Amino acid sequence: MFKLDRKLILSASVFTAAALFVAGCAAGGLGFSKSNSMNAQPSIDGGVFYPAANGKTGPYLLDSKAAGMKINNGRIPTANELKAWDTDVMPDGTGLPEGHGTASDGSDIYDSKCVSCHGDFGSGGGGYPSLSKGNAYTLKDSLLSQRSEEGADGPVRVFGTYWPQASTLWWYIKDAMPHQATGTLTEDEVYALTAYILKLNEIKIDGVLVDDDYDLDREKFLKIVLPNRDGFEPKIDGPKALPGVRAYYANPTNFGGIKVKPSERCMKNCQAPTVKKVYVTNGGIKDFVPPMATAKDLPKVESKGFDAEKSYAENCAACHATKSMGAPMVGDAKGWASTMKKGLAAVYKNGIDGINGMPAKGGTSMSDAEFKSVVDYMINASK
Ligand code: HEC
Ligand code: HEC
Repeated sequence: MFKLDRKLILSASVFTAAALFVAGCAAGGLGFSKSNSMNAQPSIDGGVFYPAANGKTGPYLLDSKAAGMKINNGRIPTANELKAWDTDVMPDGTGLPEGHGTASDGSDIYDSKCVSCHGDFGSGGGGYPSLSKGNAYTLKDSLLSQRSEEGADGPVRVFGTYWPQASTLWWYIKDAMPHQATGTLTEDEVYALTAYILKLNEIKIDGVLVDDDYDLDREKFLKIVLPNRDGFEPKIDGPKALPGVRAYYANPTNFGGIKVKPSERCMKNCQAPTVKKVYVTNGGIKDFVPPMATAKDLPKVESKGFDAEKSYAENCAACHATKSMGAPMVGDAKGWASTMKKGLAAVYKNGIDGINGMPAKGGTSMSDAEFKSVVDYMINASK
């Protein structure tokens, strides 16, 4: 898994370097300014070619042959460079060095290097994540709760309750913490800090509760089973397996599998248009509470208390208060009588849709009902 990722990262960076190189060449060799005119010159955007034809920019293309240039950039990283990047610690112990430290040593290191951000006993706060909320075995059950109403307890997602593997914690601390001085902790310090955080989460290793004196080493570390270890993938085999799950995952089109072959370019409609949804019934989340609201539109503007006369003065009077604008003038009984010959419904409709010099709804965004009430006001005021 890791090896594969590394290769991907590598080829991505080589690609970026190549793309930059192309941009540089094109700017000098092909004439960057020309490419801006609407002819068949390639245009440049972020170092990527968008060949233009018939005045239109074509799809994404990095075609060194067509552009008549040699792309020769980047290099294979050295074994030592790869080694320097290769710092991950995997659940099976790959990458985890020997070393040890007690939870009480960890507590001291924590108080000098971590507490300023993560709070006393890993309580978190002020935007910094909590490292514990208490007994992880009990709190793990909260992962099945929905925040069904305001103020209700939601799922507690901290290291102890949520993370499937302790190796992530060790690696994370070694690689990324303390936030402002990463890479400064020794391996023993990381063991000690890990022991302390396990203690805060009241984790047992091989049946033994991690307490202040617990001396965590590599061997003990590899025996850690976190409460939520199996919480990320459904059980698909064995007697307790959820029915139908294996068949579901065996067919990638069920979850939006890519339609095209990896070798083909795909700019649109790459995914199956509809993805089948499957709901795990046996053993999944029970007592599912649907979200409180799914509607995303804004609440309807209340028409109650809408002041038609005021709205007329603000939105319509500019055109409707004098004859000179060509609009039926408010107060002109004869004029309105002739307008009304087509019937009230048509008058409403013309006003809502707009007609001749009359902008739709007078250029406002009021509701139909509100607009009609303003028209009513205008008609009544003209009688
Ligand atoms: C300057 C502030 C700061 C200090 C000091 C600091 N951290 Fe952090 N820590 C953070 C921030 C910010 C994050 C969240 C990073 C993110 O989510 O991208 C974090 C995340 C973490 C996490 C992951 C928590 C989670 O649930 O996602 C762990 C574990 C952690 N820190 C451990 C430590 C340890 C151990 C120390 C002391 C050696 C330490 N941190 C010192 C700021 C700090
Ligand atoms: C920019 C000027 C302008 C504004 C602002 C304006 N109107 Fe008009 N309105 C007109 C004109 C011009 C006509 C005449 C159109 C015609 O004769 O075809 C008209 C016609 C109408 C008519 C008659 C439609 C018909 O069937 O002949 C109604 C009703 C109306 N306006 C309502 C309103 C209301 C209500 C507002 C304010 C919310 C408003 N107007 C704002 C210019 C305006």
